[in-house]
Amino acid sequence: MLDFEALFERRAPVVLEIGFGNGETLVQQAAENPDLDYLGIEVHEPGLGHCLIAARDAGISNLRLIAADAVDVLLQQLPPASLRRINIYFPDPWPKKRHHKRRILQLPFLDLCADRLEASGSLHIATDWANYAEHIEEILAASDRFVCSSRREHDGDHPLDRPVTKFERRGLRKGHRIWDWRCDKAV
Ligand SMILES: C[S@@+](CC[C@H](N)C(=O)[O-])C[C@H]1O[C@@H](n2cnc3c(N)ncnc32)[C@H](O)[C@@H]1O
Repeated sequence: MLDFEALFERRAPVVLEIGFGNGETLVQQAAENPDLDYLGIEVHEPGLGHCLIAARDAGISNLRLIAADAVDVLLQQLPPASLRRINIYFPDPWPKKRHHKRRILQLPFLDLCADRLEASGSLHIATDWANYAEHIEEILAASDRFVCSSRREHDGDHPLDRPVTKFERRGLRKGHRIWDWRCDKAV
């Protein structure tokens, strides 16, 4: 289990970002919010390297990265009720029907996120895939662990409490719409 106080050398609320890609927006958020500590999990090694370089160039000290599968880290390394916020921006959409089961956002995964969030914690999701958005709506409606406090559908012009990401720009170039949710942990 990680000890955040030892890891960040201070006590501050921790924001987790799962699948940060090249980390451009993760570094931006960490630089804009020096009172929060940011933990990024990514499996794609070039993305991790890119993020480390960006963090060094930004001169920030409130960011730590883990190169691993986010589900394993949530299960094995993150203590219960330890996170203020979890961000999952543009998770792999796995568009083919036979691959839908590979999508990270599933009901048991929502339970796991809820367990790792503090009582006042929130889960923030964005996607540019209409079919994934429908799936997300379904699992959020079926989950008794989260209350959806904000939902937006837009053309990239109204991101919900987050910067625009690299994959979002890619989706917008293809003419995709964007869906954003903020889900508060249910009491
Ligand atoms: C479509 S990209 C989005 C990247 C970034 N969030 C953005 O919006 O630009 C999805 C990212 O999630 C990462 N990813 C997928 N499954 C993961 C997992 N189980 N644990 C950690 N990262 C994962 C992929 O390597 C990829 O970089």
